[in-house]
Amino acid sequence: MARSLNPNSTGHVPPPARPASPQRRGVLAGLAAVVIGGLVSLIPLGAGALVFLDPILKRKSKPAAGGEENDEGRPFRRVATVEALPADGTPVQVPVIADLTDAWSREPNQPIGAVYLRKLADGQVECFNAICPHAGCFVGYSADRKVFQCPCHTSSFELNGQRILPSPSPRDMDGLAVDAEKLKSGEVWVQFVNYYPGHEEREAKP
Ligand code: FES
Repeated sequence: MARSLNPNSTGHVPPPARPASPQRRGVLAGLAAVVIGGLVSLIPLGAGALVFLDPILKRKSKPAAGGEENDEGRPFRRVATVEALPADGTPVQVPVIADLTDAWSREPNQPIGAVYLRKLADGQVECFNAICPHAGCFVGYSADRKVFQCPCHTSSFELNGQRILPSPSPRDMDGLAVDAEKLKSGEVWVQFVNYYPGHEEREAKP
């Protein structure tokens, strides 16, 4: 009687490994195709999402159009020429124009607010946001009284922006920075910022 060449400890010979049936091979191949196909389809999907989000990502790192960024990240915007301001120090209200951009569109030359400019005796220019710090109305200027006057709740402000007491306004008018270098070349560039009304301490809007 013929003897096995590799008997185990019990003397039994293990049965040889069975090759996968054609049916099982088909199922495994199908599963692999699904996994690989899923991974491959995710690549263009991810790339598409990046393209879609690209304007948002770029916008976060880009200064707003129409201005020069300073240390605080707020752009200076050109609002007037020095020559256009009255030499006697009468305040002039001028609009602030900027290109409005969001992630997908751009609207050039849109008004985003207004400021009062006043030429001082030493050639400097003073600038105030024209929004009333009380509740956000536009402040007017009374040439007769030579004061800024709010039409909504009668807040009044001196020419230097100081509120005249008693006043419903919790603070003085919001002064804005003027670019001294641009002034030398005859242009008025201001760092336009809107602040929340109704607070004693001013807080910039985003
Ligand atoms: S909003 Fe100007 S006084 Fe109230």
